[in-house]
Amino acid sequence: MIYYKTQAEVELMRGSSLLVSATLAEVARILKPGMTTLEVDAIAEKFILDNKAVPNFKNYKGYPFATCISVNDAIVHGFPNDVPLKNGDVVSVDVGVYKNGFHGDSAYTFAIGSISDEVKQLLRVTKESLNLGIEKAITNNRVGDISFAIQEYTEKKHKYGVVRELVGHGLGKSLHEDPQVPNYGKRGSGQKLRDGLVIAIEPMINLGKKEVYYDDDGWTVRTKDGLPSAHYEHNVCIRKGTPDVLSSFTEIEKNEKANPHLDSSYF
Ligand code: MF3
Ligand code: CO
Repeated sequence: MIYYKTQAEVELMRGSSLLVSATLAEVARILKPGMTTLEVDAIAEKFILDNKAVPNFKNYKGYPFATCISVNDAIVHGFPNDVPLKNGDVVSVDVGVYKNGFHGDSAYTFAIGSISDEVKQLLRVTKESLNLGIEKAITNNRVGDISFAIQEYTEKKHKYGVVRELVGHGLGKSLHEDPQVPNYGKRGSGQKLRDGLVIAIEPMINLGKKEVYYDDDGWTVRTKDGLPSAHYEHNVCIRKGTPDVLSSFTEIEKNEKANPHLDSSYF
């Protein structure tokens, strides 16, 4: 079942998405080596609660934390833990909130200290692929047009691994609504995009091969070959002409650039 949003609902959703963006911007401000991902999770959770919203990941299908923090070979759904972050770590932070009846859900990948040129390219290309997917999120296109754009750029052009097991999704009064939005697929295939559809587009791209496995915790998804992975996620409302991106990386990138403990030289 697909739920199309009215413009008033889209504006409420923008509030939820922008609160997620503000939370990620706060993370961009405080991240540094030596910090544990449990500490990051606690700061994000407090920020969400202080803004009178609910951390919607917590208790979602039994998920035990406010955020998913996935380091290096962890792709997504990583449990925050007590291992201190160190130079060279690639840290994907995925945050969700529930506010005014609607969910927001966005993710950003940070680099601690400094990273290799190879990993810089992975982060840049993954972020670019999100933007290429967003460009296709317009009325009368199909879901497959978004999927194809992401896969062409990351897998065909750059020979990265596109994760198949997890996909983007519709977003609204539920965290995961129809349709699914895979990061691989055929141009012109799948659900037709109509005005008022809100989707989370979230490429999960591996430096090496596409194969994954689940950790013993039952949640954390990791690369089989142990190589790092990147993940960026935006919430987008389908419009005629230009997609309406409800979340924003502007403040995140500003704080990332200003944080001497992060490598932002990749974009
Ligand atoms: N952004 C994640 C997704 O779309 C949400 C994680 S749900 C949780 O899959 F349960 F892991 F929190
Ligand atoms: Co999502």
